[in-house]
Amino acid sequence: MPHPDIEGKYFLSYEHIHRSVKALAERIATSGFDPDVIVAIGTGGFIPARILKTFMNKPILTVGISYYGPDNKPAASPRTIQWIDEVEKKLAGKKVLLVDEVDDSRVTLEYCLRELLQHRPAEIAVAVLHNKKKEKRGKIPPEVRRYFTGEELDDKWICYPWDAQDIGAHEKISRSGLAAH
Ligand code: G4P
Ligand code: MG
Repeated sequence: MPHPDIEGKYFLSYEHIHRSVKALAERIATSGFDPDVIVAIGTGGFIPARILKTFMNKPILTVGISYYGPDNKPAASPRTIQWIDEVEKKLAGKKVLLVDEVDDSRVTLEYCLRELLQHRPAEIAVAVLHNKKKEKRGKIPPEVRRYFTGEELDDKWICYPWDAQDIGAHEKISRSGLAAH
């Protein structure tokens, strides 16, 4: 369990994340779910999906979802900014593992799952690096029966290393173990 720092945020190191992805991959393997393809939700899902590939070795497709409109103001609901070409051909009849870094409100996940389900995959499972323990606005559609997480966290802001301007400072905080929980 990572320590929230003094401001009540989680600072996670690359090593911590790599270990969480490994735990996630082991949970998926133990469940017996063997996906044909990983679909990563950009941009937060890109790095976790790539690390997952180290343990699962499946091809990765990516989709881009944004909450921001062309005027850069938050939109009422998510929208696709980039989508897989020839989705139907690539996903129909396939077992899909949808990967994102964090399940927060669950709104993006629900939107993405509903879009992908239209392409008639054999099965879709969800894998998130972190699930925030909180009430969710979005719902996982009932067709989705498998949901995997690397780690369950309290509802605090997570600082990922790939967002750090100063990775040295970030890693220092993430390793300091300054616990306030
Ligand atoms: P969800 O369906 O997966 O719960 O995501 P939700 O729509 O609630 O999240 C909206 C955006 O907020 C997402 O980024 C998500 O990555 C980001 N987010 C939520 N909680 C945290 C957090 O604790 N730390 C960080 N760093 N980000 C968080 P997005 O708009 O999809 O952009 P991107 O960063 O993935 O490109
Ligand atoms: Mg995201």
